[in-house]
Amino acid sequence: MSTATAVINLDIEGPTISRHLYGHFAEHLGRCIYDGFWVGEDSPIPNEGGIRLDIVEALRALNIPNLRWPGGCFADEYHWRDGIGPRDQRPRMVNTHWGNVEENNHFGTHEFMALCELLGAEPYISGNVGSGTVQEMSEWVEYLTRDGDSPMVRLRKENGREEPWKVKFWGIGNETWGCGGNMRAEYSADLARQYATYCRDHGDNKLYRIASGASDADYKWTETLMQQISCFGCESTPKNFFQGLSFHYYTMAGTWEAKGSATDFDTDDYYRTMLSARKADHILTGHSTVMDIYDRGRTVGLVLDEWGTWWDVEPGTNPGFLFQQNSLRDALVASTHFDIFHKHAARLYMANIAQTVNVLQAMVLTDGDALVLTPTYHVFEMNKGHQDATSLAVHLRTADARRTVGDAELETVSASASVKDGNLLISLSNLDAEEPAEMTLDLRGALVGEPTARLLTADKLQDHNTPEAPTAVAPRPFDGVTVTERGWNLTLPPHSFLTVQAPVTLAG
Ligand code: AHR
Repeated sequence: MSTATAVINLDIEGPTISRHLYGHFAEHLGRCIYDGFWVGEDSPIPNEGGIRLDIVEALRALNIPNLRWPGGCFADEYHWRDGIGPRDQRPRMVNTHWGNVEENNHFGTHEFMALCELLGAEPYISGNVGSGTVQEMSEWVEYLTRDGDSPMVRLRKENGREEPWKVKFWGIGNETWGCGGNMRAEYSADLARQYATYCRDHGDNKLYRIASGASDADYKWTETLMQQISCFGCESTPKNFFQGLSFHYYTMAGTWEAKGSATDFDTDDYYRTMLSARKADHILTGHSTVMDIYDRGRTVGLVLDEWGTWWDVEPGTNPGFLFQQNSLRDALVASTHFDIFHKHAARLYMANIAQTVNVLQAMVLTDGDALVLTPTYHVFEMNKGHQDATSLAVHLRTADARRTVGDAELETVSASASVKDGNLLISLSNLDAEEPAEMTLDLRGALVGEPTARLLTADKLQDHNTPEAPTAVAPRPFDGVTVTERGWNLTLPPHSFLTVQAPVTLAG
């Protein structure tokens, strides 16, 4: 048994946790769009206009705030005009990044916007810099968001949409250091300025332009991009070319060459995974520190628009489709990330899990007409009350809640807290594979009402959900919270995630 104490000052408010930290990502990759979100109007699977309804229903329960599309690497070979107009007349192409399969373009701009409307999520469109043109991107913005009369507006209306859509989030390229063009940071920065210039605000549609940013801990890339924001060192009215700067960070147990199985792993692999997940904290600190130098006023948001676990594909599946199972280990990677995201809420504006359906660390997996909610899904659901809440600093003392992993030390308890509309939400993870964690929650500065708690755990870290056993890993009520004079005591089982909520009234 390890012990840990968390001191939470309920009357000291931190920054707001942007709802967009709970964002999603859906790429034309494997079975995310086709045979995932999109089944087509003629499918026997219940759908609305071709969009699979059980997925929509599952995701609506998460209050997903935004959906990034169409890539990823795919975005930089996607030409949006191929995805509008009558479906049977749309040109086809080869998806060279993902499996070399033919893309029929049946899921295009109108289908994506319909999906966002069904989900109640804001669209985040990732534009093509790698193989597109400034004009192409500029016209896509016009097609989507301009009102009145113009060439692109007329084209949109011919395709059945009178009113412009609202689109705020606009990605200027993806991984321009890699699949998006193998550029140098300096060149990418110039292109970000150029493309951003022609991505216009039409009417009252104000774009939040997100420049393609770093991989992992490449702080030099972030610095090169941040040097481009026009307010740095200039005396004229500040005007940022881009409002957000992205970076990507994936969690692994091994290497890119040997990532390991999603479900067949040992305890050492597990702890290495958790170290890798915890590293997100250091990397966020690094990027934020660089951004603070150039942007003290935090006018540019940090956008982690790809994160999550990356394992070997499931045996027998297309290696280019990135289909992986999702175990309790993945859930703990997610819960740890959210604690880190909440801690960095002042600079981190958006984060998008890769990817929502059937690819990498998915929320839902489908098999024919069966749909399975993954353990990761349940973390998103249990944590959704943090969206737009006020973060609270958690002072964690974890004297013996630690494990030595190789030459590093892993803190095995992770926590975060927020308050919204008079409701306190605390998230707690015990990352230890074997030992329970006895926790003292010292709650100061407010009167706290009756707690209710939910627990996500399973017998084994490798446990996961399948169509045959869809609730092998699912949350259940937890009645082990003891109310004390100072707060709450509870014992977290090994490898578990717990949320506790209670009404709060500020003291005095
Ligand atoms: O999410 C899968 C891929 O990972 C994305 O297409 C790319 O941006 C990243 O390398």
